[in-house]
Parts: sequence; C-alpha cells; structure tokens
Amino acid sequence: MILITGGAGYIGSHLNKKASAEGYETVVLDNLIYGHKDFLKWGNFHKVDLADVDALRSIFQKYEIDAVMHFAAFTNVGESVSDPQKYYQNNLKNTINLLQVMLENHVKKFIFSSTCATYGLPNKIPITEDHPQNPINPYGKAKLMVEKILEDYSNAYNLKYVSLRYFNAAGADPDVEIGEWHLPETHLIPLVLDAAMGRRDHVKIFGTDYDTPDGTCIRDYIHVMDLADAHLKALQYLEDEKRSEVFNLGNGNGFSVREVIKKSEKVTGKPISIIETDRRPSDPPVLIGSSIKAGKILNWHPKYKNLEKIIESAWKWHQKIYL
Ligand SMILES: NC(=O)c1ccc[n+]([C@@H]2O[C@H](COP(=O)([O-])OP(=O)(O)OC[C@H]3O[C@@H](n4cnc5c(N)ncnc54)[C@H](O)[C@@H]3O)[C@@H](O)[C@H]2O)c1
Repeated sequence: MILITGGAGYIGSHLNKKASAEGYETVVLDNLIYGHKDFLKWGNFHKVDLADVDALRSIFQKYEIDAVMHFAAFTNVGESVSDPQKYYQNNLKNTINLLQVMLENHVKKFIFSSTCATYGLPNKIPITEDHPQNPINPYGKAKLMVEKILEDYSNAYNLKYVSLRYFNAAGADPDVEIGEWHLPETHLIPLVLDAAMGRRDHVKIFGTDYDTPDGTCIRDYIHVMDLADAHLKALQYLEDEKRSEVFNLGNGNGFSVREVIKKSEKVTGKPISIIETDRRPSDPPVLIGSSIKAGKILNWHPKYKNLEKIIESAWKWHQKIYL
C-alpha cells in the first residue's frame, strides 16, 4: 500500500491514477485546502491535515503502508516570501510530523516532492544534482531543509528516501480525467491558456531584457505523466537498491515565455494578448535541469519532450473545466 499525501492535488492525483492502473493499492491523505474532490477517483481517501499527528497515527494503524509519497505542501513561491510562517509550518513542520509517524510505524520508504527552487540562482546550465543549493525564498528553503533532514534520518534511522527535484510541472492526464487546477493559478501555461480562452484579458511577461535569445525567461517544463512515471521508478529503486538518492526531473529542454505563448496560440488557434512589464525580483533568466542521472539510474526518460504536446494536453483539460 502506498500512502500519497496531497493526492487530491495536481501531481499527486496523476501519480495516484498511474499507480492504481499499475496495480498498486493507494491511500490518499489531503486536507482539501487546495485539492479537488473530483480528483479522488482511485484508492482510499481520508481527509486529514498533516498537522494532526493523531489522525496520521490512525491511518498508519488502519493500513499496511509500505511507502509514502509526500506531495502535500503549499506551493506559491511569492506567498512564501510574504508569509514564510505558513510555509515553514506546513512544508517543514508537518513533514517532520509525517516522518515521525512513519518511524513510529517502521515505515522506511519515502519519496519526497522537492524542487529546482532549492538551487536558487544557478551558476551553470543545465543544472545537475551536485549544483550548489542556495534557495532564495522560504518555499525553496523549506524544501532544502527537508532534504537535509532526510539525509540525517537516513543515516540515523535507516529511512530510505528519494528526493525528486521537479522543474516546472505542466500538462494533464491524456484521458482528461484530471489536470492542473490551482486556485489561484500562478503557473505560466494555465495562465496563457486562460488568456487564449478569454478568461483573462492578457498575459504579463515579467522582463523582456534578459540575456536570452528573445529576452524572456527560459524554463524547463516537465509533463505531469512523466513525473508520475518517475515516482513509480523511484519506488522500484528503493525496493531494489535500498539506498537513498536525489534526482532532478526535468525535460532537459528550455522554453522561453514568448515560445510558450507562441506555441499556445498555435495549439489553441486563438490570439493571446500580452503586456510586457518589469522583471520580478530574483527570477533567474534560465532554469534547465539535467536529468541524465535519473535516466541512468532509474531508467527514466520523459516521453513528452515536445512543448506543443505538453500544451495540447493542458489545453484539452483547460477546455474540459472551463468551457
Ligand atoms: N507544480 C510544480 O510545478 C512543482 C514543482 C516543483 C515541486 N512541486 C512540489 O510538488 C508537490 C505537489 O505540487 P502540486 O502542484 O501538485 O500542488 P497542489 O497544491 O495541486 O497539491 C498539493 C496538495 O496538498 C494538499 N495539502 C497541502 N497541505 C496539506 C496538509 N497540511 N495536509 C494535507 N494535505 C495538504 C493540498 O490540499 C493539495 O491538494 C508539492 O510538494 C510541490 O512543492 C511542484
């Protein structure tokens, strides 16, 4: 049985669907603050907040849990700067609660949703796992702190973990049952699709004078189904190798903000209005991950390398929820 925290959210629900399709039994915990009831189509669901240690204990008593995949977190980087306490309480303290209850119940396999935000401003592209980690916001700092805690717990308590540092998750389930639906939305592709659909007047481009070919920031978009696949491969790795590891999960290709907008116009067939505005503080010009290590060790190779395919799947989902 796999315990999935945050399984009513975007990435956790895709993992839940894929794991269930591959024959795993799952139990999903989510407080539904940002999750969607409609995404709870697979496995056993319990509405639990990770702050509630007794509720966590009762879940571990009820089910034979072999491994935990920990997606539950707050994810808005800007909000983590204006309200850091919210992020340290949930993303750090509640993760420690979860680890505590795992250890009490001798559950020793843990897969952690980390992030490229732990690297901060990169000094080398593509970013490899040994790149220095100097996060520049509380969101990235809390994720890095959990990575460090996992190292210590692995050494002291024989907990085996895989930390997966995702780049920008994007796209949706090809069957269009679930998809990206953050409220409020802060991610570029759904914002651009909103503008294509007329749900917002325009898309803001923050900074057009970066040292990149078209002056706009470049990011690495990794399809959510590829992320789900990586989680199952990481679980297999923990079962076979019984060693802790850290992997980047990125597409290996970068796409600029203007490229995302252009491709979205092509996919949707609609014009998208833009407003060019100032840079946001601390936005790195380029973030591209090297996933060579995950390719070699996990045999993980993203299937959605092409931006158009990623946007097509996101567009199908966007039409389903908003048309
Ligand atoms: N989306 C991305 O591009 C991206 C990139 C890097 C890392 N990540 C990480 O991946 C994970 C999943 O991200 P997502 O985009 O699916 O976010 P999401 O908000 O869609 O999902 C997170 C889920 O966790 C739940 N949750 C939050 N705090 C909880 C708590 N205390 N108790 C119970 N449930 C709680 C929310 O209700 C939500 O359903 C997060 O840990 C995030 O930091 C995401």
